[in-house]
Amino acid sequence: MIDALRALVGHEHVLVDSDVKASFETDWTGRFTGASQCVVRPADTTQVADVLRLCSAEGAQVVVQGGNTGLVGGSVPTGGEVLLSLTRLDELGPVDVASAQVTAGAGVTLASLQAHARSSDVEFGVDLAARESATVGGLVATNAGGIRVLRYGSMRAQVVGLEAVLADGSVMSRMAGLAKDGTGYDLVGLLSGSEGTLAVVTAARLRLWPRLTSRAVALLAFDSTASAVSVLPALRASLPSLSAAELFYSSGLSLVRKHRGLPAPFPAEHAAYLLLECIDRTDPFDELAEAVGGMAGLMDATVAVDAAGQRALWAYRESHTESISAEGVPIKLDVAVPVACLPELVDALGPAIAAACPEARPIVFGHVNEGNLHVNVLDALDRHDEVTTVVLSLVASMSGTISSEHGVGRAKAPWLGLSRSPVEVDAMRAVKHAFDPAGVLNPGVLLPAL
Ligand code: MLT
Ligand code: ZN
Repeated sequence: MIDALRALVGHEHVLVDSDVKASFETDWTGRFTGASQCVVRPADTTQVADVLRLCSAEGAQVVVQGGNTGLVGGSVPTGGEVLLSLTRLDELGPVDVASAQVTAGAGVTLASLQAHARSSDVEFGVDLAARESATVGGLVATNAGGIRVLRYGSMRAQVVGLEAVLADGSVMSRMAGLAKDGTGYDLVGLLSGSEGTLAVVTAARLRLWPRLTSRAVALLAFDSTASAVSVLPALRASLPSLSAAELFYSSGLSLVRKHRGLPAPFPAEHAAYLLLECIDRTDPFDELAEAVGGMAGLMDATVAVDAAGQRALWAYRESHTESISAEGVPIKLDVAVPVACLPELVDALGPAIAAACPEARPIVFGHVNEGNLHVNVLDALDRHDEVTTVVLSLVASMSGTISSEHGVGRAKAPWLGLSRSPVEVDAMRAVKHAFDPAGVLNPGVLLPAL
């Protein structure tokens, strides 16, 4: 098997040494790990197809990996799989100005894609903190969200075409990028968010947006989550330039300040913090300042005028993930509820988690416009299942989803039934069987074991 793989992709691109494989085999959080049979690094779609054809013939299961920034254990092995790393598929096509689209290989990082778009005076619509490592393939596979969903939608909304390889090595290519295409099932939409369980995405045709360069960033402090949430409709109505609305709390802020050595943003501590960003052709500072004035429940506010000040405000929000992980390995639960339910969820989380694990330290932050909360729980790994069950059940009781933007992965597969009915799970299993009847791709990811 190893020799056959080496014949396909080159000797140096099949890694078998434990030390060399190690960085591929453990996820970013350190929570999910497993030994692969080998790590295979194909150079292009043809080699991906060759590798999958061989693995299928040999009965080997395959785990697919991009930048290994996933947070739900969806791209690391459990033991014995072939790990297919797509980082060498990093070709970026020229920006197609006529259609405002670009073709990117699965291994292109988000930061490279963003820089490439900007060099042609256009913008890519998705942004998130892991931009330097996260890859196009992983963003598509998880239907990634991030900080600009409010303005541009999530990853699926950016994908106008895909090239993907099925488990048997056959290649499916829909890369024309037609804005209107009524020929039946939306297979491109289906593969987006399928977490590598249906096919291996090798390239994507992506939508681009006009580039806007003037920005204003404000950090607001509120007396409650309810106040922070209640200002949203007025903000959306008065600020067409609103591009991000991010929520966090003093528990996360104090960890960020501790690990990044940052000063307090305000003289006093407050119940909830909302970071707003407006981006436009002309400076949105005045309209943002006007919209913020006179808000009910507003305790304090600061607006950054220059790029350095804006980066400093963003650091309070974007450093949450790293600062939490610097404290220990957290349980990470990415959930969403209808926005009106957010205050009730935030209030209920603390007591529910404490009942399942008294020592647990919950840190909550998220993307408020989508009702998307990242519930991170430190010091609770030994009560993992109990904590996960109370949090996800609470979310489900509010008509929420157990996965908003990170995917289900292996981490939440056993709880899929909280968000999907038996009819839906059966339909999803039928789709999986149609694409990958032998169960070669990403075993144990997304669909719970039968
Ligand atoms: C974020 O919003 O920062 C990301 O989803 C990462 C995380 O949840 O830790
Ligand atoms: Zn997020």
